[in-house]
Amino acid sequence: MSPFRVTRTLPEDATGAALRADVRSGLTRTPKTLPPKWFYDARGSALFEEITALPEYYPTRAEREILRDRATEIAAATGARTLVELGSGSSEKTRHLLDALTGLHTYVPVDVSESALVLAGEALLEERPELDVHALIADFTQGLALPETPGPRLVAFLGGTIGNLLPAERAAFLTAVRALMVPGDALLLGTDLVKDEQVLVAAYDDAAGVTSAFNKNVLAVVNRELAADFHPDMFIHVAVWDPEEEWIEMRLRSRTAQTVKIRALDLAVDFAAGEDLRTEVSAKFRPDGVRAELAAAGLARTHWWTDAKGRFALSLSTAV
Ligand code: SAH
Ligand code: TRP
Repeated sequence: MSPFRVTRTLPEDATGAALRADVRSGLTRTPKTLPPKWFYDARGSALFEEITALPEYYPTRAEREILRDRATEIAAATGARTLVELGSGSSEKTRHLLDALTGLHTYVPVDVSESALVLAGEALLEERPELDVHALIADFTQGLALPETPGPRLVAFLGGTIGNLLPAERAAFLTAVRALMVPGDALLLGTDLVKDEQVLVAAYDDAAGVTSAFNKNVLAVVNRELAADFHPDMFIHVAVWDPEEEWIEMRLRSRTAQTVKIRALDLAVDFAAGEDLRTEVSAKFRPDGVRAELAAAGLARTHWWTDAKGRFALSLSTAV
């Protein structure tokens, strides 16, 4: 048991059932896909933390710079007593907000990764024992319910993780977040911005191969959880920029023709040589697009900040 509160909003087996459903539908369609939330078992969360420190992966440093420079302004604009963070991971950058929010009563980190929540919660408990931390193991795309905590609430969604949702999923997600808010609450959203293709591709295909290991980790998750026999070495990590959609697509490309057995699903999946399995998109944004998507969900953007190099943006919106 953890010394801080951890609530699981899904029954223990919901994850297993959801993984089975996602793997069956994703691997039996053309092109093959897998949803990105399955990257984040304990090893996946640790590999993502390594990604955030890579020289090529600029989003974390750019967003940290904005948070450091603007946390006081964000605190003054929101007066938040509860900070809810969706996809909180290590909660590392969040410390800038926790420091600046002087009236803060409760921090609610929400993540599918139990290991990330426990590590982050334990570190916070040691650093600031007075803070009420109520961690939530939950899928933020599935009917999120928040604990009763004092308002006003600030909902933070950092890391550019919104870009990992497809456009229709983003619209549904923002509408659901808006429905959790009452007047006086605010949303702090991190969005990576459209930029030079080489810079974008390098951020998702680093020289040290950490992103490749992270991408292939989803195969290890399926092997372990569903008794499958993927050989990660038989796939190549690929990151491509789609200039129409303005997103980076992460894929795993089959080196040869091969058949993978997924015993828990009683399923055999054929891959042609060179066939791609799409594991994730990471959409990049433009200022007007972000404003329009927020507005469509009933959120009025009040602030827009970028890092000095204009690579990444944080926006603050209120419920209208
Ligand atoms: N906010 C951190 C981590 C970003 S990585 C940062 O900015 O560095 C994305 C995080 O979202 C991971 O911790 C992952 O476990 C979590 N995540 C991904 N999909 C999720 C979902 N559907 N529901 C809840 N958490 C999710
Ligand atoms: N939210 C992160 C992003 O889109 C997640 C991420 C970073 C990621 N690198 C990755 C996901 C590599 C899959 C593969 O930037």
